[in-house]
Formats: sequence, C-alpha cells, structure tokens
Amino acid sequence: MRSRIEAIVEELKRLKGEGVERVYLEESTLENLRAMVTGRSEASVRPTAPSAPATPLAPAKAAVSARPASGSRAGTVALNQKGRPIAPIPTDPPKVMLPEGDKSMRWEALREQVLNDPVCIEHLNPGARVVFGVGSIDADIFFCGEAPGGDEEKQGEPFVGRAGELLDKIIGAMGLEREEVYIGNIMNWRPEMPTPVGNRPPSQKEMAYCLPYLRAQIEVVQPKVIVALGMTAVNGLLGPDPQRRMGAIRGKFFAFNQTPLLVTYHPSYLLRYASVKTKRLVWEDMLKAMERVGLPITEKQRGYFQ
Ligand code: URA
Repeated sequence: MRSRIEAIVEELKRLKGEGVERVYLEESTLENLRAMVTGRSEASVRPTAPSAPATPLAPAKAAVSARPASGSRAGTVALNQKGRPIAPIPTDPPKVMLPEGDKSMRWEALREQVLNDPVCIEHLNPGARVVFGVGSIDADIFFCGEAPGGDEEKQGEPFVGRAGELLDKIIGAMGLEREEVYIGNIMNWRPEMPTPVGNRPPSQKEMAYCLPYLRAQIEVVQPKVIVALGMTAVNGLLGPDPQRRMGAIRGKFFAFNQTPLLVTYHPSYLLRYASVKTKRLVWEDMLKAMERVGLPITEKQRGYFQ
C-alpha cells in the first residue's frame, strides 16, 4: 500500500515539475485514496466511476477542464481541505465605496476592505491569507491573473510561486521591475479543494463575487493597459463566452470598461508548453503592451525568442 502512495506522490511531483498546477480527481478516486491512506480495503469503497481516468491522477488536460468545484455535480458535494462542504458564495457581490482622497488612500482603504471581507476569510484554507493586488498604484501595465495558488495563499501575495517567477522574468525582459507594474488576480482567495495539492479554476460565482474588488483596483490604478493572463482572467473580466477560444483572442485588444485589455497566455501555460514558439507568441504580446504604453523597445528586445 505504502509503495502505491509513494508512486502517487512521485507522479504528483513529476507533474508539478512540469508546471502542472491543477490535478482534478473524481470523487470516487478520492474515496479510494482515502481508503489507501486510512488502511481501509479499497473493495469496501465505491468502484472508480466509469468516467474517471484509469490511473488515480487525471491528466493535465482533464484538470484544465475541471468543473467548477463550488458548483458540485448532482450527487456529489465539493469539499474543502477541512473535509466540509464548500460554503455557498453570496449572490450579492460586495459593495465597494472608495473614499475621497488620493490614490494611495483609496488603495489602502480598498485593501483593508478586501483583507477583512468575511466571505473571502470564510473560504480560506487552513493557515492561508486573503490575496490582494501588489505593485505600483501608478503602473501603466496591470497584469491580471486567475487566483492565488499554494504559495500565494501562504504569503498573501499574487504570483510568488513558479508562475510568478516566470512573470517576473517576462517583466524584466520588458525592461521593468515587478514593483513598476501592478499585479492582481480575478480571485482573492485560493479556490477551495479537498486536498492541499492541486488547483482548480474559480467558478463563475466565485469570480463574480471578487470582480468588484478587481474593478476597484483598476479604477484606482488607472492603467493604460490590462494584460489578461489566460482564459480565466479573460472570462472573469469580460464575462463568460462559450464561443471564446484562446487561439482566436490571444494577442488581441478588447476593452474592460474604458481600459484596453490585451489577452495573452498564462505563465503556467508557458511553463507547461515551454517551446520557443509559445514564448515568442507571449513575447509579441508583451511588445504590443509596451508599444501601447509608450515604453522604449530596443532592437535586441524585438528579436527575443526568434
Ligand atoms: N496564478 C495566478 O493566476 N495567480 C497567482 O497569483 C498565482 C498563480
């Protein structure tokens, strides 16, 4: 039994090493895992559902298409790390009232509101923190990601894990420091899962709840361009559209309220598909963002990843 658990841990480590951030497990598979850990015989628990993968770990592709966990399927209840059902998300989004005052006063007040939001706090994993945006409140470029992961919820800061390291490198290649841009997320807490391992995309309800906070950050910072990192950020900012395809919208400008919004791949995608071609596509998007905000671009920079 022990060697099977070790094999699972090894496989998870291998996937993590490849940049996989989400692993979706069928509930029946989880039950089998629980049985392995607690020493109950697997025969005493439900057999793995026919739709579940043959191996205990769903491949990355299945993980990406994982259903929203807070919208559990009929007959299953999505659980959090405490083994309790995930609390429902209020349908009334929070009201944000930015105070009079300068930018930093408004930003501080907003940050206080988000960090003390009872809904955000209620949905935190054990020992985790609410994650608010960081960077320059005078930034021209506002990077918007999806949701905090394990590293981010621990540190209370967006993009500090592997994807964050890559984002920092991209920002550096643009000739900027992390502190010169603004970095936020669609979500202010890590979407709950039953295990500490793996991430899932936020549900529409979760994104709708946090959206006023993102909107208010954009209102305070007033960037010249928002760079939406990945499809979840796009769906969170522009609203869901089942027809939307990343291949068709990447590198294109849209608008969020009055602010130009440029779509590019999420750094986690780049970690998983680290080909020169993919890097070049993202880099071309960054050149567009730089042009849009009037940053100087050298010939050397223009030629990266060719
Ligand atoms: N991925 C995101 O989208 N946001 C983070 O903060 C970290 C990883």
